[in-house]
Amino acid sequence: MNTADWVLVTGAAHRLGREIAQAFAAAGWNVLCHYRMSLAGAQDTQAAVQALGRECLLLHADLAQPDAAEALLQQCLALTGAAPRCIVNNASIFEADDARTASADALLRHFQTNTATPLLLGNALHRWLLEQKLATDGHYSVIHVLDQKVHNLNPDYFSYTVSKLALERSVALQAQALAPLVRVCGLSPGLMYLSGPQTQDNFDQASRVNLLRQPIAPLDVARCAVFIAGNASLNGCTLQADNGQHLVPLARDVMFTIAENPRP
Ligand SMILES: NC(=O)c1ccc[n+]([C@@H]2O[C@H](COP(=O)([O-])OP(=O)(O)OC[C@H]3O[C@@H](n4cnc5c(N)ncnc54)[C@H](OP(=O)(O)O)[C@@H]3O)[C@@H](O)[C@H]2O)c1
Repeated sequence: MNTADWVLVTGAAHRLGREIAQAFAAAGWNVLCHYRMSLAGAQDTQAAVQALGRECLLLHADLAQPDAAEALLQQCLALTGAAPRCIVNNASIFEADDARTASADALLRHFQTNTATPLLLGNALHRWLLEQKLATDGHYSVIHVLDQKVHNLNPDYFSYTVSKLALERSVALQAQALAPLVRVCGLSPGLMYLSGPQTQDNFDQASRVNLLRQPIAPLDVARCAVFIAGNASLNGCTLQADNGQHLVPLARDVMFTIAENPRP
C-alpha cells in the first residue's frame, strides 16, 4: 500500500462523486469510494482512480440509516487502519416537492441522508482523532457538498433545499465544535447534471443560467474540494463553484423557469 493520504468520497460511483474521486487521485490521494446501489459505477470509479496510479477501495453503506456514519468510519478503519484525512459528503437525495406539498416522510428522509449523516460522519472522525490523541495541524477536513440553491432561494425542491440549508448553517457550527482537530467547510456547486424529469433541451438552456452563460464544469467543482482539503487556512467557510449562478435570482427552480418560458 502506498503512503498517500486517504479521502472518503460518499456517493462516488457517478457524476460529481466520481469527478471528486478522480480529482483527489490526480492530486496524489488514495480514495475510499462509497456507494449504495451502484456497485458497477463504483468499480468504474475504482478503475479510473487506479489508472491514475492511486489506490481505491470500495465501501457500501445506506446513508439513510441512523447508524450509518459510525459504521462507515469503522469500515474505513478496517480497510486502511486509520481514519481518512478528508471526508467529502457528496451523496444526497434530490426529490421534487414544494413548500406546500412537502410530506413528513420526504422531509425526514432528506434530512437523514443529506444533513444528519454528513454531520455525524464529521463527528465520528473527530471522536477517532480525540481517541488517538493526534495533533492534526489542520490536515484533517470535512467538506459538505451543498448547492447554490441555499444562497439563492426558491420554494421548489423544498425538502432538499431545507436539508441543504441546515447543512450550510451547520458548517460554521461544526467547524467551531470540531476545532482544532478537524476543519469543516462547505462547497456549493451550481447546476452541473441533468436530474429527475428534466429533458436534455431544458438542461442545455438551464445550465447557462449563470453569470458566465456557460455550463459549469464538474471538474472545476471537484478541484475546489481538493483545494479545501489541501489548504489548512480554510475553515468554517463555503466555496461557491457555480459560474455565479447564485447571483441570478429566479422565482422558481431553473428547470421550471425554463419549462414555463420556452425558447421562442
Ligand atoms: N447535480 C447537480 O447539478 C447538482 C447541483 C448542485 C448541487 N449538487 C450537489 O452535488 C452533490 C452530487 O450531485 P450529483 O447530482 O452528482 O448526485 P446524485 O447523482 O444525485 O447522487 C449521488 C449519489 O448519492 C448516493 N446516495 C443517495 N442516497 C443515498 C443513501 N441513502 N445512501 C448512500 N448513498 C446514497 C447515490 O449512490 P448509489 O448510486 O450508489 O445509490 C448516488 O449515486 C450532491 O450533494 C448534490 O446535492 C448537485
